[in-house]
Amino acid sequence: MNNKFTEKMLEKLRTDVKKEMGEKRYNHTLEVEKMAIRLSEIYAPDKIPTLRAAALLHDVTKERSTEEHIAICEKAGLVVSEAERKAPKMFHSKTAALVIPEKYPEFAVPELVEAVRYHTTGKANMNIIEKIIYLADYIDMSRSFEDCVALRKYFFDFDFENASEEDKIAHLRETLIRSYDYTIRGLLEDGKYINDNTFEARNFLILER
Ligand SMILES: [Fe+2]
Repeated sequence: MNNKFTEKMLEKLRTDVKKEMGEKRYNHTLEVEKMAIRLSEIYAPDKIPTLRAAALLHDVTKERSTEEHIAICEKAGLVVSEAERKAPKMFHSKTAALVIPEKYPEFAVPELVEAVRYHTTGKANMNIIEKIIYLADYIDMSRSFEDCVALRKYFFDFDFENASEEDKIAHLRETLIRSYDYTIRGLLEDGKYINDNTFEARNFLILER
């Protein structure tokens, strides 16, 4: 089923997700799809349709209220932690993953759902699909925040043409470590809660070096 996401299915999905969000977020979603294609071409050419669908779905619940997020989690039997209530921005990746099987069942393949589930925080030991969605969301062309611009430049300044497969993977790792450094630094400066998964994601990659 995985790579049987046809152009027609993706087109319909695009129309469906558009109904769930405002123009700005929809534009961001389309840019994440484009960036996911660029990254897939480098790292996972056999997974492009999966990555495109994951990109289209990653923010599908982002405009729901905190109450709606809590209701979605509780309906699925998940306990809503104090941290989630205090950092509601984290909610949308979890609830997007929960609504996919219900609202978009034809796209509910585990690897896609997992990539959506962890796209905000990252996590330890991510597979290539998870890494691509996480990074595509960070550096898509609609992002103008300086950390995003700097990370995009760092990533694309690399000489992919002349690099070995091993070097490309190492470059992705360094890019992700940088992203976590930026994120953690920003959250520290703002005095905000930092999700454990973000620390674990970074530590895992540091040990893998
Ligand atoms: Fe996003």
